[in-house]
Amino acid sequence: MMEAENFGLHPNSIMRKKIVAGNWKLNNNIEESRALAKEVAALVKAEVSADVQMVVCPVSVNLSTVAAEIDGVENLALGAQNVYPKASGAYTGEVSAPLLKAAGVGYVLIGHSERREYFNESNEFLAEKVKAALAEGLVPVFCCGETLEQRESGVHFDFVKSQLTESLYDLSEADFKKVVIAYEPIWAIGTGVTASSDQAQEMHKVLRDHVASKYGQEVADSTSILYGGSCKPSNAKELFGKPDVDGGLIGGASLKARDFVDIALSY
Ligand code: PGA
Repeated sequence: MMEAENFGLHPNSIMRKKIVAGNWKLNNNIEESRALAKEVAALVKAEVSADVQMVVCPVSVNLSTVAAEIDGVENLALGAQNVYPKASGAYTGEVSAPLLKAAGVGYVLIGHSERREYFNESNEFLAEKVKAALAEGLVPVFCCGETLEQRESGVHFDFVKSQLTESLYDLSEADFKKVVIAYEPIWAIGTGVTASSDQAQEMHKVLRDHVASKYGQEVADSTSILYGGSCKPSNAKELFGKPDVDGGLIGGASLKARDFVDIALSY
């Protein structure tokens, strides 16, 4: 509660972009996507402060439909859930950064734990994706997070730091500054179990210090670090009240426009 009240006074958070991104995952056909995007766009326009950047990430086949619905809402951007590192060629089934850009995409999720787990995406491969996104001017939302076993055995800080090191620390300072980080403890994704705001803050601080050790304090202070994992209207205020939590990556709750926007109103 104290932190929530003090949030607006925290000097670092003023420098960083507040972002609330909705990851729709493999949900919503074209008509459902259109309807949800329309509802989100109207609510964001009417209720969300211009300093909170909202993002919606539909499945790729529905990107253009959603782009048309959210067009003209200044602080609502289109995001993709994935990108392939190559621009074009014989890569059946993949979608490249230039194609996403042309479809109106501004943000792209990279390294979501579901991609790491089900599609065996390695830190090295994710590093290529980050570079491909940046080359097209897309903002990578780089996801990281530990399993419950890793947390219980006490290796979680080192594990998540190594995800950043291996996928992001080849970037120049200018490029790193364009990256958004999303900390998503795997045990909290889709489980209804949220990390406590103290657990989130603790990891976000560790990650910010880790960024500072590589790129310096100024860059670390300007890096947005989002929390993801069972974030919903009832817990967003407490999470966002922490000084190193700069917003959220929302799965389940982003499928309801009212809940998604209520999360953004928690600032
Ligand atoms: P959740 O998903 O909010 O449904 O837990 C978050 C995510 O996977 O990005």
